[in-house]
Amino acid sequence: MVMCSFVWLLVVFVDQIIFGNAWAVNNFLMTGPKAYLTYASSVQVGAQTGIQECKHQFALDRWNCPESALQLSTHKGLRSATRETSFVHAISAAGVMYTLTRNCSLGDLDNCGCDSSRNGKIGGRGWFWGGCSDNVDFGERISKQYVDALETGQDSRAAVNLHNNDAGRLAVKSTMKRICRCHGMSESCSVQTCWMQLSDFRDIGNYLKVKYDQAQKLEMDKRRMRSGNSADNRGAIADAFSSIARTELIYLEESPDYCSRNASLGLHSTEGRECLQHGEGLNQWERRSCRRLCHECGLRVEERRTEIVSSCNCIFQWCCTVKCDNCSQVIVKHVCARREGGNGQNNRRRYRGPK
Ligand SMILES: *[C@@H]1O[C@H](CO)[C@@H](O)[C@H](O)[C@H]1NC(C)=O
Ligand SMILES: *[C@@H]1O[C@H](CO)[C@@H](O)[C@H](O)[C@H]1NC(C)=O
Ligand SMILES: *[C@@H]1O[C@H](CO)[C@@H](O)[C@H](O)[C@H]1NC(C)=O
Repeated sequence: MVMCSFVWLLVVFVDQIIFGNAWAVNNFLMTGPKAYLTYASSVQVGAQTGIQECKHQFALDRWNCPESALQLSTHKGLRSATRETSFVHAISAAGVMYTLTRNCSLGDLDNCGCDSSRNGKIGGRGWFWGGCSDNVDFGERISKQYVDALETGQDSRAAVNLHNNDAGRLAVKSTMKRICRCHGMSESCSVQTCWMQLSDFRDIGNYLKVKYDQAQKLEMDKRRMRSGNSADNRGAIADAFSSIARTELIYLEESPDYCSRNASLGLHSTEGRECLQHGEGLNQWERRSCRRLCHECGLRVEERRTEIVSSCNCIFQWCCTVKCDNCSQVIVKHVCARREGGNGQNNRRRYRGPK
């Protein structure tokens, strides 16, 4: 399932090389097919990393990062620019940058390595630069070449997508950590060397999820947009962007409530989704998951019990077998289901925002 979207991504790259995306073609010609393909596998792994993180971050949201929503390009298919699409763009661009940066530090790639440009210089009181700083500039550059090349339009959607790609890449930079090692007489730590290292990708996912919650709607001057004059158009887009920081996610369209299925938008309903109830140590977001996924979508919560049998009480017998008992354990799951006699749509409560 997940592979599909990456195969698709690669198809788009190839498709764009063949069918005339000037950026990709130039890029392809300048660096040659060999260079293009050298990075292509890392780009795919990076995009996959991004999507896995998206699924993790949205596991208890009504929109749960479905495959059908992962078409990055505005070239074909969906051309929506919702809050959710903004996250997909940011996390994918970040994933590609992250993987390539890691590849670089690990020496996987011939033409890049650690960023040692500051090594030997004083960084602050009691420490100087040393070691292997992750070369984010390299990862950023390649991510731009591959991911941004998917955006072929000149319109506001393309501009929004490119902005969100960039915000994703900035998230990789702003979550980096300074790591230090002690030196000096018997490790007294009187002197330290430090380098900059990527955070776990999970931290980048958490950071971007907060940006998603705070995403801003881009307001355009509709009168100027409607005039159809391309200079006016570009002017209106530039003005709208001027008030928004590069780190923030933006969107153009309000999201649907994601309760019901809409095949033409590639959306599933929340029927059959699992939610969490009365568990120990659940946070507020998790405790409210059944309300959010089921009740607010006019569905009820169904308890499903499944018995699983696994081996237990294993003892080692001389010599040489292991004897085990079969223990059965009942697993309780909570799943959204239709109300009796209802189609799930009639008694929906008032919609309270995209969460
Ligand atoms: C880059 O790293 C990923 C995993 O982190 C790996 O799967 C991929 O093969 C690496 N690329 C190269 C060219 O070694
Ligand atoms: C699906 O979404 C489209 C676009 O928002 C809308 O026009 C259409 O009516 C929706 N279909 C259903 C079955 O809700
Ligand atoms: C445990 O279950 C397996 C498969 O159902 C069965 O082959 C095995 O004999 C059982 N072991 C015991 C100790 O009951």
